[in-house]
Amino acid sequence: MSKDGTNALERFLSDLESLFSVTPQEVREIMFHFHEEMRRGLAGGKSSLKMIPSFVGRPKGTEKGDFLALDLGGTNVRVLAVALDGNGNATLAAVSRFVIPSETIGGAGDKLFDFIVDCIQSFLKEHHAGMPQAYDLAFTFSFPVVQRSVSSGELICWTKGFTASGVEGKDVVALLAEALQRKGMKSIHVAALANDTVGTLVAKSYADPSCDVGVIIGTGTNACYPEKVARISRLPELRASGEMIVNIEWGGFDKLKTNVYDNLLDLSSNNAGRQKLEKMVSGMYLGELARLVIVEMIQKRLLFTEKSLPAFSVAYALTTEHLSMTAHGSDFFDDFGLADVQEADRQTIREICRIVSTRSARIAAAAIAAVVAWMDADLESNHTVAIDGALFEKYPGFQDNMTDMLFGVFGDRAKKIKLELAKDGSGIGAAIIGAVAASARQ
Ligand code: BGC
Repeated sequence: MSKDGTNALERFLSDLESLFSVTPQEVREIMFHFHEEMRRGLAGGKSSLKMIPSFVGRPKGTEKGDFLALDLGGTNVRVLAVALDGNGNATLAAVSRFVIPSETIGGAGDKLFDFIVDCIQSFLKEHHAGMPQAYDLAFTFSFPVVQRSVSSGELICWTKGFTASGVEGKDVVALLAEALQRKGMKSIHVAALANDTVGTLVAKSYADPSCDVGVIIGTGTNACYPEKVARISRLPELRASGEMIVNIEWGGFDKLKTNVYDNLLDLSSNNAGRQKLEKMVSGMYLGELARLVIVEMIQKRLLFTEKSLPAFSVAYALTTEHLSMTAHGSDFFDDFGLADVQEADRQTIREICRIVSTRSARIAAAAIAAVVAWMDADLESNHTVAIDGALFEKYPGFQDNMTDMLFGVFGDRAKKIKLELAKDGSGIGAAIIGAVAASARQ
């Protein structure tokens, strides 16, 4: 490449770095706005943070029993059998995973629920000889739901590309119960409904009482924490003392500095104007952000050749797994029909992936910093943050980038915050919630 070309490339990449930068000072500003939105959300005012009361607190570790758990939140349905021994130990006795066909994700809502019930039936066939006598089922439903009780709630709006019709505004437990009826599975009773973040927090705190934040950083992103009931003024009927877990729905936070790629992505999404933070952080969107950068660079002749443009013209063709491959030192060029890629282009691609994923980790850290500081402004106590999701678990360097930002913001006090992987927590946690709900019924 000519000297000018090199300079143009360097300039482009350095502008890109600024467009995606997040500094510790900016994080402090984000935290300030986050707290304002939390306050407004808890009071039931207009806020980009929904702050949804879950009607459950953290468990005691003494909950007992065998439960079925159903987990719907991404492109898979998982069915799990969970055994709780009453001593803080939860065992995953069996688990099956089913891929949801894309026509079901975007089709009629009752077909989606029929599909879910088919998954439960296959699971029971495989893992339990004959039909069960009766089961309590805990339902992890990883979308924004206005929870009405521990076992009911209406879907506010789909996220993460789901568009199944006739579900928004409806009680998802009632829809599941109707599908169970349709398929003749009357012996299954839906005992609990939980967001995946709530399940994750509950599962981790079953054994570790210092755990007070549950986070998902995967296809979507969100968090929850235990709030003093007295501060949840949107529910004045809750006079009780004590705490209740609040599902923040932080994916909706909209007080962030966006750039041209964020705006393009948002405008062409099926939920434009919503889930602004999620679109900058979660696994569903990082590949698309990188793709938009790549397309512009090809058009400006800063990357590959023009012939490669059609391969990158398909929205969402580049995934976060592809980005992760570059961070592992391999590449994704085969999937895009590119042979003989120049070393300079490989390096440029690695840079783009690094820039996009680093911002994601920093914003995720900013949101965690805000939640922890809300509970404990001076970081006087230890806080275990239970985190599930492939981006956090598998993306090389992601956890380090988060930790670096926490130290950038809190200095040495950041040692009080432990980020811990909590794999499969959401299903187990829902089972624990089911145990609490079932014992309250007796
Ligand atoms: C949903 C949340 C969920 C998160 C992680 C978001 O899109 O709105 O309810 O917790 O994804 O799965």
